[in-house]
Amino acid sequence: MSDKKFYKMTRSERLDTLKLSAETRQIFENTALDNEIADNLTENQISEIEIPLGVCFIRVDCKDYIVPMATEEPSVIAAANNGAKLAGNFTTIRNERLMSGQIVFYDVCDTEKLSQAIQNQRSEIFSIAEKAYPSIYKRGGGLKNLTCKTIGSWLTVNFSFDSKDAMGANMINTILEAIADHFRTVFPNEKVLFAVLTNENQHCRTTVETRISLEKIKAGTAEKIVKASEYAQIDSARAATHNKGIMNGVEAVILATGNDSRGAAAAIYAMEKAHQGFSTWHIADEALVGEITLSLPIAAAGGATHVLPKAKAAHELLGDPDALTLASIIASIGLANNLAALKALVTRGIQAGHMSLQARSLALSVGAKGPEIDRLTAELKKSAAMNSETAQQLLLQIKKQAPH
Ligand code: MEV
Repeated sequence: MSDKKFYKMTRSERLDTLKLSAETRQIFENTALDNEIADNLTENQISEIEIPLGVCFIRVDCKDYIVPMATEEPSVIAAANNGAKLAGNFTTIRNERLMSGQIVFYDVCDTEKLSQAIQNQRSEIFSIAEKAYPSIYKRGGGLKNLTCKTIGSWLTVNFSFDSKDAMGANMINTILEAIADHFRTVFPNEKVLFAVLTNENQHCRTTVETRISLEKIKAGTAEKIVKASEYAQIDSARAATHNKGIMNGVEAVILATGNDSRGAAAAIYAMEKAHQGFSTWHIADEALVGEITLSLPIAAAGGATHVLPKAKAAHELLGDPDALTLASIIASIGLANNLAALKALVTRGIQAGHMSLQARSLALSVGAKGPEIDRLTAELKKSAAMNSETAQQLLLQIKKQAPH
């Protein structure tokens, strides 16, 4: 057995080590992504994972977009398109984009004195930031503000940054570590615990709204959508599902555009309203009005956004929007998905639409091939129970009936 470290092996050597069946190995070897890109993005890389990519046609701030969405859930893109069509247009109400970071001191004897001393260092801190990461300053970004917060004997310095179109994680962490080193030099008796960005991103918020005339949606349905959105504000169990429907769309665009889905999810669930619905609906001026606010620290440049060829193509398909515009599009998609889900829930229920789409994925999951897929899908839609057992039995019958 080779004593070469796994991460130093070639992909082929890694697959050898895993002792896979020939069939499984072949599946892992079927890749589209250039091995050099894959190897440089991920340690211990053995393959890639494919997720279908679809599109949603949506109008945001009176401009039409074709939005790429990557998702394994059959109903997500259908819901986004239904909601986008019914809504007509989505309007940006607020789009703030400052990223945040913190340096934390512990066991501080006199927090007020240290706070004051840090504020006295402001001009040194700003010039250290610029020296640590000059390229962001050339693009007009960089450190914008700092404030101190005390929790008992902890003192946190909160920083906000303009990262322009990038997410800015490397820039922020590099600058913060340089400032932390400076703090260690000028405050030798104080203890710095760590310096890192925060995914809370309090100053990175996008709000969009949509207005649907009551001529386009029945007043009774609109009223029930309002009720459902009110309920998501008072019951965390419902809020989680209401928000899952929103995240269906949001995550699908984030994934398709090569963005950091964990960073965005962490930011969204760190919002003050994490246990309430992210969107609200009300009726005003003969229209159903929906509004959503999300923290969206996403990027239109940098990271994997233009390294992964399909993510790059996804940005192109969108017309290469800047990060603020992309945030508005993503929030609008989330609201579109929410609208479609609430409308289905308060009218015919979600299963009717879901199950006809799920029938296809169920057919695939039990091994239907070629024309069997359409036939099994049709049989499943007619059957009383739509589950794997029924699907397997129906597939057997279809195979028996097929001409040999
Ligand atoms: C399914 O993926 C999402 C929904 O359950 C969302 C909702 O209930 O609002 C349909």
